[in-house]
Amino acid sequence: MSVLHKPLPHDAAPLHVTGEARYVDDIPTPAGTLHLAFGLSEIAHGDIVAMDLSAVKTAPGVVAVLTGEDIGHADCSPSNNDEPLLALGTVHYVGHPVFLVIADSHLNARKAARLGRISYEEKPAVLSVDQALAANERFEEGPRIWERGDLDAAFAQSAKVIEGRIDMGGQEHFYLEGQAALVSPQEGGDMHVVSSTQHPTEIQHKVAHALHVPMHAVRVETRRMGGGFGGKESQGNHLAVACALAARLTGKPCKMRYDRDDDMVVTGKRHDFRIDYKVGIDAEGRILAVDFIHYTRAGWSMDLTLPVADRAMLHADNAYWLPNVRIESHRLRTNMCSATAYRGFGGPQGLLGIERVMDHIAHALKCDPLEIRKRNYYRAAQPAKSGPGTGKRFSAEHSPQQPEPDAVQTTPYAQPVEDFILHEMTARLEATSDYAARRAAIAEWNAANPVLKKGIALTPVKFGISFTLTHLNQAGALVHVYQDGSIHLNHGGTEMGQGLFQKVAQVAAGVFDVPLEAVKITATDTGKVPNTSATAASSGSDLNGMAVKAACETLRDRIADHLAALHQTDAGSVSFTDGMVRVGGTEMTFAEAAMSAYQARVSLSATGFYATPKVAWDRIAGQGRPFFYFAYGAACSEVVIDTLTGENRILRTDILHDAGASLNPALDKGQVEGGFVQGAGWLTTEELVWDDKGRLRTHAPSTYKIPACGDRPRVFNVELWTGANPEDTIHKSKAVGEPPFMHGISVLMALSDAIAACGDGSRYVALDAPATAERVLAAVKAQRGGYV
Ligand code: MTE
Ligand code: MOS
Repeated sequence: MSVLHKPLPHDAAPLHVTGEARYVDDIPTPAGTLHLAFGLSEIAHGDIVAMDLSAVKTAPGVVAVLTGEDIGHADCSPSNNDEPLLALGTVHYVGHPVFLVIADSHLNARKAARLGRISYEEKPAVLSVDQALAANERFEEGPRIWERGDLDAAFAQSAKVIEGRIDMGGQEHFYLEGQAALVSPQEGGDMHVVSSTQHPTEIQHKVAHALHVPMHAVRVETRRMGGGFGGKESQGNHLAVACALAARLTGKPCKMRYDRDDDMVVTGKRHDFRIDYKVGIDAEGRILAVDFIHYTRAGWSMDLTLPVADRAMLHADNAYWLPNVRIESHRLRTNMCSATAYRGFGGPQGLLGIERVMDHIAHALKCDPLEIRKRNYYRAAQPAKSGPGTGKRFSAEHSPQQPEPDAVQTTPYAQPVEDFILHEMTARLEATSDYAARRAAIAEWNAANPVLKKGIALTPVKFGISFTLTHLNQAGALVHVYQDGSIHLNHGGTEMGQGLFQKVAQVAAGVFDVPLEAVKITATDTGKVPNTSATAASSGSDLNGMAVKAACETLRDRIADHLAALHQTDAGSVSFTDGMVRVGGTEMTFAEAAMSAYQARVSLSATGFYATPKVAWDRIAGQGRPFFYFAYGAACSEVVIDTLTGENRILRTDILHDAGASLNPALDKGQVEGGFVQGAGWLTTEELVWDDKGRLRTHAPSTYKIPACGDRPRVFNVELWTGANPEDTIHKSKAVGEPPFMHGISVLMALSDAIAACGDGSRYVALDAPATAERVLAAVKAQRGGYV
């Protein structure tokens, strides 16, 4: 009966599709609830000279209006104490909250917020990478630099040295449920907060700080989010803090939600990156040295920029052995919304840098890019290190730049790559996607078709799993068994659609071997499990699954000890199978066992705790083991472009993804499919446009194009790799939330391949992202020698 590893549907799927699932905005509000809206800055940078809020204050339904002067520095930053809730004298971006309206309805608050008249003394706005560099506007004193080997010597020895640049855009999270919070004042000044957040403890911390109360006076609950994607790690702080301050002022429950346009203008997005590269290769295209310079526009406040930019550096190698490598990273302060976490957390940007390099090398050598990729792969995992179920492993060809033929190769940050399975995975995907034959067929097709051109690419992913800030790799759980044998499950993770709650419920049911219906999934609650980390870095099931397992095992052992004593046998002989408990010659239901333990005054409530082993990291030196293990995958995409319009389609995508021994293959496949489509959206249609005044012109679905269901590949084959995680993770599974996002890179590379078919091969396509239809068309024209 065990529910472990079963492809069960999302626990709340019926609620999602019927509209019964409760999000913050669906919670019936108490009588007298007040509603909040921000008045926003209309300029990118300047000092506030005067604020005329008289029309706001007298607008219908307005109860109070607050400014930065009224509340002081109520900090909303997750990192640097540099984000007062409301601008204090200076505005730093278009959309910067300047004043707060408290009114009797959502609509009245919003209408009143538009009536503020603010005069500014405008200052020059720093918007571009070049402007930020010129003004030396950055979040650390200088660039962060990690380096290994002797680049000059390696470049001198190289058969070829290639230089280039790729610009890649940011990305709006476009969670279906916008940011929202509801705060109800309790007796004695305590606050109860309901928030759409990936990080209830951060909300608790920030609200407590703003109210100058201890954290015990604030309780935060999150049942689910309608999507987070990293956009609710820190960006919900402002709404909860605003509601808490307003609730204290008025004594009334206060609620705030952003409408879509405000959400897109006010909150942070994925960091856009410019990556300059210089690569030295041998005659076969093996990298001898690579020098990357990352530039990222971080927006006005620090937020999570340092770890995001670090993670970009940590993925500059992707799947490739880089004997001599230098990565320089500039975290630039600009007058824009503050860029934040987004699925992959900088990893996708770093990874795209080296994938572009692979593509560029292939062009220079007139070689299949997949061949170049494989030649540069890390050496295969050593057979002795292989985990159960991983099958036989290939060994990488010995290549001249690898000094010790048998040693485990290390990443640029000196972590040994001990679990590398991409040789095997790539071979399998090449076969199942029929890569070679299709590449040949595409070449023939392109030769015969002047208007439509096709392209194909197969790209790998290696993604590091763990929070790079080591202390965040911990989790707690609280489990109760009631006297009727039903189980109350709670842990520090949050549900945002990824299926974490179902996976963890499977773990809990698995410990007692009871049906899933015996387990009640409950809302994340800072009053039940304290000091939680954000549900982020894909580690939700790794961390909380282990913590829950520990709590459940404690309870199972207590019940077993009790029954063993009762039946004068040893606890090890008590078995929990198929919803039954067997001890001595007796058999009883799990409910009977629970009742028996209760009547014997055995505690049926337990906590569980987990801390990830082995991780240790020095981010300044760029050395250590930031990751417990790596998740792998590969994707093959075929596209077609219309060379007259730039319009394009994904014809087929095949993905082979490594979720270890999957806790739930149905949910994990869903993560792979969704991650891929979101990644493809980032690199194709999702374009953020800021004008020269720093105004975001793409602040609604009318102008910002996320993939629609018709944009998914016409043929879409997703398979999970069947190997287990060699590391001791929860039932040998692997984290799956973020890694598949980077399979979207196969689409950008396939587009580049299709565009290359328009030229004579002399000029490298150098396609930037997002590759919108306009950008594809310009690249086609450049290939054909026309205007760009
Ligand atoms: N899947 C859905 N449906 N909705 C989301 O918001 N967020 C992603 C990923 N998958 C997300 C999602 C991000 S950014 C992360 S870090 C992980 O889920 C977090 O959940 P996990 O740690 O449980 O995988
Ligand atoms: Mo995910 S970007 O780590 O929330």
